[in-house]
Amino acid sequence: MRKVVLAYSGGLDTSVAVAWLAEQGFDVIACLVDVGQPGDKAEAVVRAKRLGAADALLIDARARFAEGFVLPALAMNALYQGRYPLVSALSRPLICAVLAEVARDAGADAVAHGCTGKGNDQVRFEVSLGALAPELEVLAPVRDWGMTREDTIAYARDRDLPVRTTASSPYSIDENLWGRSIECGVLENPWTAPPRDVFTLTADPQDARPAEVVIGFEQGVPVSVDGVAGDPLEVIERIGAVAGAAGAGRIDMVEDRLVGIKSREVYEAPAAVTLTTAHRDLESLTLERATAREKRRLEALWADLVYEGQWFSPLRDALDAFAASTQRCVTGEVRVAPAPGGVSVCGRRSPLSLYDHALATYDEGDAFAHADAAGFIRLWGLPTRRWAQVHRER
Ligand code: ARG
Repeated sequence: MRKVVLAYSGGLDTSVAVAWLAEQGFDVIACLVDVGQPGDKAEAVVRAKRLGAADALLIDARARFAEGFVLPALAMNALYQGRYPLVSALSRPLICAVLAEVARDAGADAVAHGCTGKGNDQVRFEVSLGALAPELEVLAPVRDWGMTREDTIAYARDRDLPVRTTASSPYSIDENLWGRSIECGVLENPWTAPPRDVFTLTADPQDARPAEVVIGFEQGVPVSVDGVAGDPLEVIERIGAVAGAAGAGRIDMVEDRLVGIKSREVYEAPAAVTLTTAHRDLESLTLERATAREKRRLEALWADLVYEGQWFSPLRDALDAFAASTQRCVTGEVRVAPAPGGVSVCGRRSPLSLYDHALATYDEGDAFAHADAAGFIRLWGLPTRRWAQVHRER
């Protein structure tokens, strides 16, 4: 019998996929990877067996996700199209790594995912698996079986499958500890404001509790909140809770998918938005100007690359080596105030601060060599002056 490891979420599609793959004659190992999504995961795993899985595993990958995937994204202040913190794009390569490991241990010859044919996630799964475990066949039952949502529900009803009733939500949700995406339903009209009830991580503006927090960083890694130390997972969770209660981190955008579709996306990512704002600010204090400028350019490249499924590419490795080199000096504290609509920075300090008060001040104690400015400007303007001279004369 052929053995397949399925990336199982417990939602409608992957629940039906368990039964469908079993019906096609596969031994199904349902693999639920915990990357910080809510819900009763133990129940979902038990249910997988009732759906027909030969085996079902719950794998807690939260710390691995925080350290190996979220921290590199934070180091690169990664925001796709300047706004989306890559929530789902970061979890897919990790889920693939887990699938490949489980498949190897179980002696499976195939893996399966529940992505549709219209999204980015199918690309991320298949490109990542191709790099990690080219010997495995990749099945995409949801893409291939050609059922509509109604068909899928009917399939489950006809076979009396134990699927969650909440699976009938009009939205498509993906969530992990870096944030949450909400798609489909009324949101498919880009003019329609998101109904209040789509949000679960962020308070509505009128209920928001304003906050001010101090985030400590060591070499680019967030290590404390208001002076209380924690590992990356704890810090991300704590910042998410405070910033979410303050109503920060909602993003409403029209996004360009890799497959060419423009898509209206609603996100709430209080931890990601707050930490990225703080981290970027600390870099403004501690990175030398040319390095910072080049880094901004490479940040956009990094975000595109990871969004487009190239996590396991040599270019991402090389960019991460650049990031690691820059992060050695990103140590210090940032005072931030998350609020509905955004996160403001109210202060920053660092033992490695490049800010020199004596150079910056307009008050007494000014150490800047004012007389040097005139000669500097003459040389700085020389090429433009010369060009203008020639072209004015023509
Ligand atoms: N548009 C986002 C992305 O491509 C979110 C995808 C959410 N995935 C999902 N299966 N609902 O990363």
